[in-house]
Amino acid sequence: MKIIVGVSGASGASLGLKAYDLIPSEHQRFLVISDNARAVLKNEEGYKNDDIAAPIASGSFGADAMLLAPCSMNTLAKIACGIADNLITRAASVMIKEKRRFTIAPREAPFDPIALENMLKLSRVGVIIAPPILCYYADRKTIDDMERFIVGKWFDLLGVKNDLYKRWSGGVNLD
Ligand SMILES: Cc1cc2nc3c(=O)[nH]c(=O)nc-3n(C[C@H](O)[C@H](O)[C@H](O)COP(=O)(O)O)c2cc1C
Repeated sequence: MKIIVGVSGASGASLGLKAYDLIPSEHQRFLVISDNARAVLKNEEGYKNDDIAAPIASGSFGADAMLLAPCSMNTLAKIACGIADNLITRAASVMIKEKRRFTIAPREAPFDPIALENMLKLSRVGVIIAPPILCYYADRKTIDDMERFIVGKWFDLLGVKNDLYKRWSGGVNLD
């Protein structure tokens, strides 16, 4: 598959990069980082967010899936309104119009009603809304374990086979 990973300027940008790093090598991966995320990360990898002419800005590129993690409320609002003023928001609008697998991980606490409405609007056009939610089962012990669980869930949604977390097999230990 061709998979795009977008990273916008919400807290936890390193989690988006981790997801990018963990994409299995049989897939083609493409990274784009917003200027505000880049300012924090100082990361020079991937496409520049103002490179609106990059291949992933076109439907003809044929991306199969996109993960936007984390997604700031700013970028969420733009996508929900159809604004495509940089490479992340343009790639996002392409995924929506081409009806491709698109998972957004909004990151803010708490979510205000505007953000919730934006999420509902996007969910109704087929975007999967999957915030980075912590896991308290499956033997998670470290932050790395927790992050691998979150990334594994995102990969499941994108159709990327993975064994990043132990799947629920039933049974509850009440000891
Ligand atoms: C340290 C830091 C942490 C931030 N965390 C968040 C966050 O968790 N969620 C969010 O929506 N915005 C957060 N912001 C604000 C966004 O960076 C800001 O709205 C920015 O305009 C987003 O730009 P972008 O959507 O182009 O990446 C944070 C800003 C800073 C400086």
